Parts: sequence; C-alpha cells; structure tokens
Amino acid sequence: MSVDRLVIRRPDDWHLHLRQGAMLRAVLPWSARQMGRAIIMPNLRPPVTTPAAAEAYRAEILAALPAGSRFVPLMTCYLTDGTDPDAVAEGYAKGIWTAVKLYPAHATTNSAHGVTDLAKVAPVLERMQAIGMPLLIHGEATDHGIDIFDREAVFLERTAAPLLDRFPRLRVVLEHVTTQEAVAFVRRHGPSGRLGATITAHHLLINRSDLFAGGIRPHLYCLPIAKRERHRLALVDAATSGDPWFFLGTDSAPHPMKDKEAACGCAGCFTAATAIELYATAFDRAGRMDRLEAFASLNGPRFYGLPPNEDTIALERGDAAVPDLVMPEGGAAGDSVLPFMSGEALPWRMA
Ligand code: NCD
Ligand code: ZN
Repeated sequence: MSVDRLVIRRPDDWHLHLRQGAMLRAVLPWSARQMGRAIIMPNLRPPVTTPAAAEAYRAEILAALPAGSRFVPLMTCYLTDGTDPDAVAEGYAKGIWTAVKLYPAHATTNSAHGVTDLAKVAPVLERMQAIGMPLLIHGEATDHGIDIFDREAVFLERTAAPLLDRFPRLRVVLEHVTTQEAVAFVRRHGPSGRLGATITAHHLLINRSDLFAGGIRPHLYCLPIAKRERHRLALVDAATSGDPWFFLGTDSAPHPMKDKEAACGCAGCFTAATAIELYATAFDRAGRMDRLEAFASLNGPRFYGLPPNEDTIALERGDAAVPDLVMPEGGAAGDSVLPFMSGEALPWRMA
C-alpha cells in the first residue's frame, strides 16, 4: 500500500545521547521537535551515577528546551561496580530515573566506569528485579580477542542469556541491536514481556560495506558497528514486523567533527536531526509505512508501562533536507556535528 501522508501518535526516542552545555543546546531542539519523550543516556564525564546527578542533568536539559516544548527527558542511572542498590531504588521510587544503563567496561564511548564483572552488581540487579525497574544493556563483549563484528552475538551467548536465567523477572532492553542473532534472541524472550529491544535508524539504513564505500566514512562509524547486509535485513524485518518488543531508539550520539575525522575517530552517529524521517525512509523502502506508528510511538510506551503520547505528528511524502551541519554556539569549525546522511534528501518529511 502506497500512501502520501501519514498521521501517527507522536513518537518517543527510547535511547538518546544529548551531552551537556553548548552541544546539548545545539542538538536538543532537533529531538524536541519530533519526540515526545526520550530515555537519556547517562554516559557523561563524569557519568550520571547518583539521583542528585540525574536531577541536575534533567534540570540542565529542561533549561535548554525551546520555549513551549513539552519534551520529557526520562533519566537513567549509569551502573558501576560500586552502585548502591538503595540509591537505585530510591531514585526510582522518587521518579528521578526510569531505568539503569549497563555498559560493559570499555565497550564504547565514556564507558570506562562501566561494569567489569556482573557478579559485582548482582545485588543491584536483584533489587531492580524486585521493584520492576528496567535494565538497559549495551550488549557487546569487550574482549579484544573477539572480532568486532562478533561482539554482540558473543555477548548474547555468554552474558545476556545467563543473565536472563539468573534474574528471571528482571525487565531488560537490549539496546541498538544489530544482528540476526539478536533479533532471534529478542523474538525468543520478547513474548514473556520481560525483554524488549531498540533499533536505530542508521542500522536499518546502512551495512558494513557502506562504512568503506569509496573510502573510509568516519561519520558512519558507531558502536555496535554496522554488520553485514543479511543482518540489516533482519533488523528491517524486526522493526517492520509490528512485534511489540521492538521499538524506536535512535542512539543519536553527537560528536564534534574534529573527533570523528581523526586518526582515531570516535563512535557515534548523529541521527536526531531527522530521526523520524530516517525511520520513515527505511519503513517506506520495506513497503511497511503502516507499521511505523507501532514501532515509533506505541511499542516503547507499552514496554515501559507508560501511555502513548496524546498528540500526533504528520508525515508527508516529499523531500526532507538533512541539515549540512549543526554548530554548537560559540564553536569553531571542528566543533560542528555532521548529521547522518547530511546534505541528502529523504523521501518523507514532517508536515
Ligand atoms: C555512543 C556515544 O557516543 O555516547 N556512541 C555510539 O557509537 N553509539 C555510546 C554508545 O551508545 O555506545
Ligand atoms: Zn548509545
């Protein structure tokens, strides 16, 4: 079915990096323009590990919102080996944070304080299981002897599966899944209602060959890294399936150009500038625009036990221009952020 206009409930972004200061002020309006809520990642320097830090960060985000915006940041707790179960439970009971984020130590950007051994955080996970607080997982093995393209699949086998067994009622989101193996894993555990997964727009649109198309493309480098085409196809199939355990999470992760275009460029794609348009592009190519609303606006709230947004957005067929650059206020040339697919026209735009 081909349609030219689509009205959907306002989407939410269940995985978003906003940063702080001038970068936050530069990127936040793009998310607030289209998303009702977002799960805000806590990998700041230093990371958000206490309720007080989460409250301060939320206040900074709210202060950076455009006037009149009703965007709601949902805060997360950065799990470390030393996280106190009482502090986690207290922050959850007070509504300060919505979930806990697990970064295996050194898996990705700003994860040096992450968890070195799951045994060390068992008391926190016990408590989260008891109170129903979700655990959001960056699911990659960190052993550098494991090929970078295999790290997600190995993590599922060695870490995620035993974790789900050990904590049978713990609610878990596998973040930014990138492989056929992860899709199968989520399909296996999703129906119990305790496991969900986010899928990024960029992983629906690029495969690992795109990283090297005509030369190395640092702005397409993110973690988990894009995989083979068969994995991308599995992700498109999952996102457009309508299955309620798959939902939107951009993992939009802005970095200054000078850090991306470097001898050792850092990981992260900035997709928030045109997030819903990028997802619409992927759904349109799959001929499944009719399933976009479930994925973008209904499945996430359902998993988190929240109502869908009341208001709607309209998408229409017609060129959406991806901005060339987003420049933090007071920045110099290398401080700008290059949006994913910058300079290109996408086939759907927000009306
Ligand atoms: C994220 C970042 O830059 O904060 N980078 C990324 O490649 N996705 C961290 C993360 O989510 O892995
Ligand atoms: Zn992320």
